[in-house]
Amino acid sequence: MAVGFDARRFLRDRRDNRRHAPEDLRAFVHALVHGGIETYQVTAWLMAAYLNPLDDEETFVLTDAMMRSGTVIEFAPGELPGPTVDKHSTGGVGDKISLPLAHLVAACGACVPMISGRGLGHTGGTLDKLESIPGFDPRLPVAAFKAQTKRLGLAFGAQTKELAPADGTLYALRDVTATVETIPLIVASILSKKYASGTAAVVFDVKTGRGAFMRELAQSKALAERLIAVSRRMDRQAVALVTDMDQPLGRAVGNALEVVESIEVLQGGGPPDVRELTLALAAEMLVLAGLERDVAAARSRATRALDGGDALGKFRAVVEAQGGDPRVVDDPTRLPRAPRTVPMKAARPGFVTKIDAYAVGEAIVALGGGRRRAEDTVDPAVGIVFERKVGDRVAEGDLLGVLHSGPADPLDVAKALAGAIEIGDRETAAVPLVRDRFD
Ligand code: URA
Repeated sequence: MAVGFDARRFLRDRRDNRRHAPEDLRAFVHALVHGGIETYQVTAWLMAAYLNPLDDEETFVLTDAMMRSGTVIEFAPGELPGPTVDKHSTGGVGDKISLPLAHLVAACGACVPMISGRGLGHTGGTLDKLESIPGFDPRLPVAAFKAQTKRLGLAFGAQTKELAPADGTLYALRDVTATVETIPLIVASILSKKYASGTAAVVFDVKTGRGAFMRELAQSKALAERLIAVSRRMDRQAVALVTDMDQPLGRAVGNALEVVESIEVLQGGGPPDVRELTLALAAEMLVLAGLERDVAAARSRATRALDGGDALGKFRAVVEAQGGDPRVVDDPTRLPRAPRTVPMKAARPGFVTKIDAYAVGEAIVALGGGRRRAEDTVDPAVGIVFERKVGDRVAEGDLLGVLHSGPADPLDVAKALAGAIEIGDRETAAVPLVRDRFD
């Protein structure tokens, strides 16, 4: 198919904002995976596609071609013990929701074949969090991924050479060419991976605010609408919640620290915002999967599974099945721990008016908890645990949070973080966690 692919003509079309023919987009994706286009041509196309965004039809064709660039997992009717449904977040800071949520929904009878990503830019990734559990292997081959979904109703997998490889190539190049933040490329990236995993339905958690890729509410809503429109063209069911990412989600930011917080939520505790978003998304997933008729009934079912310990039991089983140490559930000190902790204190009395999620995400990367380049390894132990959230009253000297750092001197990071937390005289009105819903 790539034979005859004229990369220069393809580039000229994008540069001059001429619509790509479907066969050209498919030939481009084929060339990406099998050879036939140079990396410098791909990056030129990415910038042209950033400046002249693809329309809906082009986005659909690109998504479909990227999904088919590797194996597309299929589950035969009756092969699984329950209906398939998955969740995808567009990326945030402290966003560990997949960990409690996937286990909770599987404990309620749905099957969740979950393909997750690594941290990108200032945002964290589920795979990095899972890998902080000693022994956990999220890179299941397709056959093992299918078998575990069948047996436990949940498996964690990664985008690999087998699954949506075109996204792997494009994603790494977008990250280093400042071409991540454009709706058509985000839609194609997310949907190609998700729908290669064999799920029939997805609930999208579209983040909005300073820690999101789409900072403005209007842009986030536009992204939610496009995710749903293209999902529909691909014959999949989808719902999207647009949720706040102005301040980090929960209290913990950093891979192992977020696993600890996820276990707390699975034990029926944890920070209120993490528990609330877990339940809100779980309810949507159970309705989308057809396991409950309405969101209220689905929420009660999910609440029972969370507070009754079923979701925690599922977590234990999945961790063990994927080679991880299940003892972390009862003894989180088995997770990697940073050698140093540095308290961050309030310089003045007042109310916390802002915790800038983007600055916090960048601070985690500076500590080694995220990547500057794709080949970097992450330090699973580093991070921050906040003791205060936006709206809280503080006295001078009160503990705002604790920085967990590696051997490197964390003082510059502590300074950057101090700038990320604002204390004012007046209490700010709380922003609702769920800003909008699309179906
Ligand atoms: N998450 C993805 O998988 N892809 C994007 O482009 C952005 C967020």
